[in-house]
Amino acid sequence: MSALLHTHSGLRWVVLILLLVAIGRAFARKNGGLYEKSDKMINLFTMVSLHTQLLLGLILYFTSPKVVFVEGWMKVSQARFYGMEHIAVMVIAIALVTIGRRKAENAAEPAKKHKTIALWYTIGLILILASIPWPFRNLGAGWF
Ligand code: HEM
Repeated sequence: MSALLHTHSGLRWVVLILLLVAIGRAFARKNGGLYEKSDKMINLFTMVSLHTQLLLGLILYFTSPKVVFVEGWMKVSQARFYGMEHIAVMVIAIALVTIGRRKAENAAEPAKKHKTIALWYTIGLILILASIPWPFRNLGAGWF
C-alpha cells in the first residue's frame, strides 16, 4: 500500500515534466515545424505515464483509508476530494489527453498535429494541476 502510494505520488512529477515538454515542443513547432519520431514518442510516453497513474490510482481508490463512504462523507473535504473530485477530474483530464493524441495522430499536416497536442494537452495539464492534492491544500498529502 505505502509503496503504491509513493509511486503514485512520485510519478506526478514525471507526468508533469512530460506534459510540459510535450506542450513546449508542440507550441514551438506548431507554425511550420516537422512532426518527427521524437514528437510522436514524447506524446505517447506522456499518455502512457497518465494511464499508469490511472491504473495506480484505481487500485488506491479501492484500498486507501482516505476513500471512505460513511454517512456525511461529502461534507468532509478530504473524503470528498479523494472519493470524488480527484478521481473525476483526473479521469476527465486523462481522457482529454488521450483523445487529443488520437486526433493529432490522425491529422494530416505536422502543424495541425502540433496545434492539436498544444490545445488538448494544455487543457489536460490545467485540470491535473488543479486536482493534485498539493500540501498547501491540507488534504493529508506531501510533495513526493
Ligand atoms: C494525472 C493523474 C494523477 C495524479 C498526478 C495524481 C496524483 C496524486 C497525488 C500527488 C496524491 C497524493 C499522494 C500522497 O499522499 O502523497 C494522490 C493520491 C491519491 N490518488 Fe491520485 N493522481 C492521479 C490520478 C488518480 C486517479 C485517476 C485516481 C483514481 C482512479 C487516483 C486516486 C488517488 C487516491 C485514492 C489517492 C489517495 C491515496 C491515499 O493517500 O491513501 N489518482 N494522487
